[in-house]
Amino acid sequence: MRVLGIETSCDETGVALVEDGNRVLAEAVASQEQIHAPFAGVVPELASRQHSRFLPALLQKVLGDASCDPREIDLIAVTRGPGLAGCLLVGVAYAKALGYALGIPVLGVDHCEAHLYTCYLAGGVDHPAVALLVSGGHTLLVRVARPGRYEMLGTTRDDAVGEAFDKVASMLGLPFPGGPAMEARAKGRPSGDVAGLPRPLIRSGDLNFSFSGLKTAVLYRLRARSGTPLSEGEIDGLAREFQNAVVEVLVEKAREAVTRARAKSILLAGGVAQNEALREALRRAADEEGVRLVCAPKRYCTDNGVMVAALGHHKFAGGARDDLSLDIAPGLRLV
Ligand code: KG4
Ligand code: ZN
Repeated sequence: MRVLGIETSCDETGVALVEDGNRVLAEAVASQEQIHAPFAGVVPELASRQHSRFLPALLQKVLGDASCDPREIDLIAVTRGPGLAGCLLVGVAYAKALGYALGIPVLGVDHCEAHLYTCYLAGGVDHPAVALLVSGGHTLLVRVARPGRYEMLGTTRDDAVGEAFDKVASMLGLPFPGGPAMEARAKGRPSGDVAGLPRPLIRSGDLNFSFSGLKTAVLYRLRARSGTPLSEGEIDGLAREFQNAVVEVLVEKAREAVTRARAKSILLAGGVAQNEALREALRRAADEEGVRLVCAPKRYCTDNGVMVAALGHHKFAGGARDDLSLDIAPGLRLV
């Protein structure tokens, strides 16, 4: 069964053709990083316009690379939410028009669930699992009884992890998106006194997160310097201290979630799951807890069409169906 996956929920246009749920025949992602970089964040109107510009060319490329006639597609899976309304609308309208024109069924999927589902492409998930989804828009800790059966354990009270990385990077004068830049600087040569950022809610007794205070703590550090620019070593040091703080909080909560959910594995997905320091720290914690760590393959951590196609295949096989009344759901919640 050949599934076309379409992802347009934020600032990446992703299209992929996946056979039988896990064989990637072709994929293409058009990133808009350059377009949004001057604004240090995603501008929704610009993003949706880019999606409608990119989609036809990406579809042509994917079909060409896979030597696939459009009539050989069995299902079109598309992200219906959560995400930016205008962006979702472009993907869903495109999927429905294509499905209608070619007589192919269309199925809407949840973006967060698609991120989590990439862990199943890696294989080796033992249930129940605890899933940590960390991206630019989402920070979720979820108990997974099996794919499709979720229980919310914790979420962020304010900023998402990736959003905090992006904002702090911007304060330090690093390029957008901030996560990769911060990780690179955290490996540098720190100098000066940069320790002592807070570890928000680390001992709160629940599984929720808060990252806006951490961001403000960095801002106060910068203000206290009354305009004196940071040295390169101080930027490295602050990037490392910030990353340490985020990783410590995420790992501590994931560990607590494993105990509470009696989990046998930890799943890590979303854009921030590319972070090596986070992967390493979770690996050590998983070893100590005697559970498996299953990380989403790095290339499928950020938004892409493969995760949408793979989840679409799974859902369709389980009986899920949509018709042309399929609509966007910008505020869709996994649980
Ligand atoms: O999953 P994604 O592509 O988009 C959303 O659905 O939100 O995630 C993008 C986020 C950005 O905030 C980016 O800064 C962050 O993932 N990110 C990272 C790293 N690579 C990407 N954060 C920390 N370390 C990284 N290596
Ligand atoms: Zn995403």
